[in-house]
Amino acid sequence: MKPPRSAAAKRALGLWKKSARSARLHTTIRWWTAPFEALEAEVPRSGNILEVGCGHGVFATFLALSSASRSVVGVDIDAEKIQLAQASLLGLRPGEATVSFEHRDSGEVLTIEGGWDAIVFADVLYLLAPEDRSRLLSDCFAALAPGGRLIVKEVDTEPRIKARVAQLQEALATKVLRITDGDALDFPSAADLEALMVGSGLTTRVARLDKGYFHPHCVVVGTKSLS
Ligand SMILES: C[S@@+](CC[C@H](N)C(=O)[O-])C[C@H]1O[C@@H](n2cnc3c(N)ncnc32)[C@H](O)[C@@H]1O
Repeated sequence: MKPPRSAAAKRALGLWKKSARSARLHTTIRWWTAPFEALEAEVPRSGNILEVGCGHGVFATFLALSSASRSVVGVDIDAEKIQLAQASLLGLRPGEATVSFEHRDSGEVLTIEGGWDAIVFADVLYLLAPEDRSRLLSDCFAALAPGGRLIVKEVDTEPRIKARVAQLQEALATKVLRITDGDALDFPSAADLEALMVGSGLTTRVARLDKGYFHPHCVVVGTKSLS
């Protein structure tokens, strides 16, 4: 568990201070339990960035606040979360960060001319069935600019006990509390994700982000070739 440390992190989370208690609690717990500052370091400092499955949008806003050269769009299938994410941006000063949020259907990848410099997932792909996950990653590959990065953060399946705790928690969030939307519940390992990304044509690298956390956080970073 880690608190927000950088000024941008504190500002991103601070935007939720005056929100309803449930949203404030959700975003605070999310921050303390997800390695957002380490994940941010994997994202290019400039360019057009898409976050798929942005939820309340704290990470997308943090990315934009961390670098004025980033233009960030967050999308999610949960219309209510997108509304809250949009409302959180009202607390930003004019020109403070370039970030916006849109509601999109599952499997839909927003495209832009020239392609995205990076597409990021933070704890989303376990909510898709394997065939949908594979299709979505291929569509993301197609939507990337040459040299663009696909950054996939998930909870690994090793070490087993830590993974099992995280999986039970996610089952509770999706099936009992219903605070997370998703079509399925299927936890890919870092190796599974890497194989899918290599299959899409990306050059990959895997890093663990779980130092100081209960969950076995990991990230797979795939880079598209320049040609
Ligand atoms: C655990 S939350 C993570 C939210 C955010 N990425 C974060 O790190 O705080 C998972 C999010 O994925 C979204 N989601 C689930 N399936 C999705 C899909 N097929 N496409 C886009 N978003 C999806 C859910 O609505 C939820 O907001």
